[in-house]
Amino acid sequence: MNNVKIIGTGSYAPDRIVTNSDLSEIVDTNDEWISSRTGIKERRITTGEDTSVLSTKAALEAIKNANIDPLEIDLVVVGTASPDKFIPSTACIVQAEIGAENATCFDIAAACSGFVYALNIGTQFIKTGQCKTVLVIGAEVLSKIIDWSDRSTCVLFGDGAGAAILQRSQDENGILSIYTGSDGRNGAEFLACSAVPVRNPFITAVEKNDNIVTMSGKDIFRFGTKIIPKCIDQVLENQDCTIEDIKYIVPHQANMRIIDSAAKRLEIHSDKFYMNLDKYGNTSAASIPLALDEMARKGLLHRGDKIILVGFGGGLTFGAVLIEWMID
Ligand code: ACO
Repeated sequence: MNNVKIIGTGSYAPDRIVTNSDLSEIVDTNDEWISSRTGIKERRITTGEDTSVLSTKAALEAIKNANIDPLEIDLVVVGTASPDKFIPSTACIVQAEIGAENATCFDIAAACSGFVYALNIGTQFIKTGQCKTVLVIGAEVLSKIIDWSDRSTCVLFGDGAGAAILQRSQDENGILSIYTGSDGRNGAEFLACSAVPVRNPFITAVEKNDNIVTMSGKDIFRFGTKIIPKCIDQVLENQDCTIEDIKYIVPHQANMRIIDSAAKRLEIHSDKFYMNLDKYGNTSAASIPLALDEMARKGLLHRGDKIILVGFGGGLTFGAVLIEWMID
């Protein structure tokens, strides 16, 4: 099996900042409620750019930082719950925009775990020798599927994209351990958004469909606090590491209180979790790569650092990746 490492990251979020007080002009809410219940202060909301545009901008930055030619990319995987279209995939649109003519391209749907799943897929394709260089992206324009009249959900989400370039490595192994799982039986209804109902000339009663996100906040909260420690324990155990070996945990940025509670369960300080939720809100599949790229740009990551990415989301889906940072 080949070794795999991350050789570059990139991210992009729309310019338009929407603060909690901006939202208080749309729904009956206020900064105090949103900040104290979630940790979110503001989020970025698109004024027209769709998921493929955000993805392309994040991808171009990752390509530049990795110092590769787009023609070297063998595979593009986009994790998204809010694609531009059913057909073509976001990945195919990105391929055309970045000139990755030699790549195979597809999207995967794993909600907020989308980037962890995409990273896993990219890693497996390189490990088995099918690919040498892979572009993985987590991107969302959730603002188009949110019910802007529902204060219990519209205050939580934001738009953004993050990307990473994975490459086969002769000597160094950067992706040390991966754990993923799904639970479609318990909790599929905790976070949902319908697609198109079955409709054709042979059906008389067509279901109503409004394509908006619905959420059972308390159930998601309980799920998050339990699954984060489980995923982290699993990748540590697979690699025979302890939590003390880990410099940072980069979690899906859903809610600060979920992270505080997970930290308590793990008996670690919540400072070990890198958070930028206050500035971006919950960007679903984009939240982990947005945070990872921000950390790289801030110079927080050094060669040899061990970090864990951990995601959880609708499906239910969950997963973690233990990484050794290999970029100087
Ligand atoms: N502003 C003001 N009041 C509000 C708002 C708001 N934006 N939203 C709800 N309320 C009110 C409710 O109407 C309710 O009022 P009532 O008592 O008069 O009926 C009160 O606040 C309490 O509502 P709850 O839903 O019980 O609030 P809770 O303490 O559970 O917090 C929250 C809600 C923040 C959503 C919490 O359940 C949570 O964090 N859950 C996790 C959900 C999450 O992170 N989802 C992200 C997407 S899923 C994912 O990324 C995997």
